[in-house]
Amino acid sequence: MNETIVSKTSEYFKKKGIILPKISELCDPHLISEDILKRLKNIDKDAIDPLNLFRVHWFNNRNHSDISKIPEHIVLTNEFTGVEAKIIVNIGRLFPLITAHKVLAAYGCLLPRILNGDFDYTKHKAVWPSTGNYCRGGVAISKILGLKSVAILPEGMSKERFDWLEKWVEDPKDIVKTPGTESNVKEIYDACNELKKDPNNDIINQFSEYYNYAIHRAVTGPSLEKTFLEIKKDTNLKPRFYVSASGSSGTLAAGDYLKDALGTLTAVVEALECPTLLKNGYGEHNIQGIGDKHVPLIHNVMNTDFVVDISDKATDNLNLVFNSQVGREYLIKSLGLESSLVKKLPEFGFSSIANILASIKLAKYMNLGKEDAILTVATDGADLYLSELEKTKNNFQGVFDNNACANIYEKYLKNIDTENMLELSQNDKERIFNLGYYTWVEQQGVSLSDFEKRKDQRFWLNHYKHMISLDDRVEEFNKL
Ligand SMILES: Cc1ncc(COP(=O)(O)O)c(C=O)c1O
Repeated sequence: MNETIVSKTSEYFKKKGIILPKISELCDPHLISEDILKRLKNIDKDAIDPLNLFRVHWFNNRNHSDISKIPEHIVLTNEFTGVEAKIIVNIGRLFPLITAHKVLAAYGCLLPRILNGDFDYTKHKAVWPSTGNYCRGGVAISKILGLKSVAILPEGMSKERFDWLEKWVEDPKDIVKTPGTESNVKEIYDACNELKKDPNNDIINQFSEYYNYAIHRAVTGPSLEKTFLEIKKDTNLKPRFYVSASGSSGTLAAGDYLKDALGTLTAVVEALECPTLLKNGYGEHNIQGIGDKHVPLIHNVMNTDFVVDISDKATDNLNLVFNSQVGREYLIKSLGLESSLVKKLPEFGFSSIANILASIKLAKYMNLGKEDAILTVATDGADLYLSELEKTKNNFQGVFDNNACANIYEKYLKNIDTENMLELSQNDKERIFNLGYYTWVEQQGVSLSDFEKRKDQRFWLNHYKHMISLDDRVEEFNKL
């Protein structure tokens, strides 16, 4: 620990009125002091105000006026999904600053650097490599703390991501665009390795930062547990699965918490067009935020139970149905869905739809009944993909009508098959684990022993325990 930098940073933060939230407060915001909660009411959720750190949790209510008793969520039932099991989706769009939960991962990765004095605000720049949402989260957290930052992301990501970044960075040069799209993570690493040559660039790589794993196990996991326990109340509802699409695999870590707390199995979702986990495959796809042609270092593969692949044709087309007038009319008038549910469907971005479809596949494959529940998350909402709607619509050559919507809903949701998924045997887990060797040991220089110790569950548990132990240090830092 570099005490000189810690006290310098603490002085700097004090002048800016910055208080750091504890992990326990993000896990259960009802522990946040009344004074802070009261002050937050007068601050816009997207304002460049450090108090917004106290909104980096799953409990923001829909109009951000208060915290909810349990995280905001949507329960999808048989009328919509065609399966008996209940699919419970926690809503990530309500996180502040970037309308996606990746801002939590950014805080989780930066916090230890501040507490240890590894990050010197007078010299260092926080470099946030990602496919879009994590780097926005990183830029947002850096900015409200008065720290310099750089976003790295592929040039082919959605326009909405770039529009946001342009407003938030100090200098357009702080947006580094790498070649390709979603699955070109190797190119992101190349850009990181280039920037790393300058010792003042602190690369906070979500794909290999164990704090990204640990913050989700410590915060996202318990938040989903709270939602489930409230819904379950006085019923026989059984928690069966946690489903999460993987980009960095941070969000997936909630599954390790839920497996211990509720006994769920964990399913990882990827794009069928880039079936890396399913069949060591590669390819391009449009489920933005996930599936990056590699196995992230922080993916606890040996504790993952299923791989489920979803086509981007399904997510693109359902996104169009959920977010168009014709689609909404079809869902309400022809399908008979409650308009209150249809109004909420824009809370699901591409990867959220993928999580829901994967949950439906699992429910079919496992023959789940009405007393079974599947827990999942909606990382972001459809507002981040509005520019994609026209592109999908163009495929219909002007006849996107009630029939087209019915075909999409039937084909991609209601009648989705159970192909392209795998219940992982020990051999399958080892195959996926071993695949990571080529990225991490051969390409990125991780030592073999550091790579292999990830097979042991105690390794992951220790990272989680370390994360929750930071609370004492946060308290000390705030008091300095
Ligand atoms: C929209 C979206 N969905 C899913 C993910 C995957 O989350 P994770 O990186 O925690 O695996 C991301 C990651 O950036 C994302 O932006």
